Amino acid sequence: MHSRRSPASAVLRSHPGGSARQHRAAEPASGYRGRGHVSASGGGEAVLETRDLRVEVGAGRGVSAVPLLHGVDLEVRAGERVAVLGASGSGKSLTAAAVRGQLAAGLRSSGSLRVLGQEVLDVPGARRPGGLRPAAVLQDPSAALHPLVAVGAQVAMPLRARRTPRAEVRAEVLELLAAVGLEDPARVADGRPAELSGGQRQRAAIALALACEAPLLVADEPTTALDTVTQASVLEVLGERTGPGGPALLLITHDLAVAAALCSRAVVVADGRVVESGSLADVLAAPAHPATRALVDAARASGTTASASDAPLGTARSATLDTARSARGGVPA
Ligand SMILES: Nc1ncnc2c1ncn2[C@@H]1O[C@H](COP(=O)(O)OP(=O)(O)O)[C@@H](O)[C@H]1O
Ligand SMILES: [Mg+2]
Repeated sequence: MHSRRSPASAVLRSHPGGSARQHRAAEPASGYRGRGHVSASGGGEAVLETRDLRVEVGAGRGVSAVPLLHGVDLEVRAGERVAVLGASGSGKSLTAAAVRGQLAAGLRSSGSLRVLGQEVLDVPGARRPGGLRPAAVLQDPSAALHPLVAVGAQVAMPLRARRTPRAEVRAEVLELLAAVGLEDPARVADGRPAELSGGQRQRAAIALALACEAPLLVADEPTTALDTVTQASVLEVLGERTGPGGPALLLITHDLAVAAALCSRAVVVADGRVVESGSLADVLAAPAHPATRALVDAARASGTTASASDAPLGTARSATLDTARSARGGVPA
């Protein structure tokens, strides 16, 4: 079943399939082992570890707080792509926002949130040191891109912030835009976001995220607003540019087919709690929790993950992507 081999294999082995997987207690935090370290068990270093991550709203002035996240444990290792799955309202975006250090005003978090072993729960994303700030790709790429600033100038900002020599910035920007499959990167760089299609804008947002050289990319429903063909081509870019050799990926999605296209491991949330986690193949083949079963049943009913549930992940991925490739005739959407 485990057709994909990755640094995640040790983590996958620690989550056996079947009902033993459900509500499995978190292993103790392994602690920071230094950049680039690969543990004896074969897993990469922990890029992200949350322990008992809680978010609540509305405390103060005689109003008691309402809990929204009830203690979420997550772990993403270097080179891994992990999906956070759940129905609408289950707490996926809150989890993503807490990890990015960008919770909405009025929300309060507690517990532990470590990036590369460093506790950053109380540090807003913008104030975290560059190397500990996850990059983000959101559902609406317009939210990530300033409408009045040329795309290239925006992608250049994180490069300049890292003091990339002025003479190299332009070449790096064009390289990043080309790497996410944007044709004619010079024209894209000099234009504004409004001149791009939705799919091209999302590619530009991914280029911006990659320019940050963050250890972790948090993608919250990155393809939900795109048509099916464009979705698959954007997933392909995310697959090529994250994981082994690139930033680790925390992929937030309600869509099992999207998760199956990219991720080897999944965490399922319902009502602000992790209800199941394990290898994505196991979760799809034998969902243990009713919330997971509902997601799988819904996906089967819509026909989107029949192949993902019945075939090895590699097959599901290539089927999804091949369909898109032939449908768009090789032209990036
Ligand atoms: N700023 C907020 N204030 C109050 N409740 C919120 C806020 N943001 C999210 N919630 C609630 O938290 C729950 C989880 O939301 P969210 O994480 O956005 O769900 P999803 O899984 O669809 O991304 C929902 O019930 C939502 O209404
Ligand atoms: Mg959401």
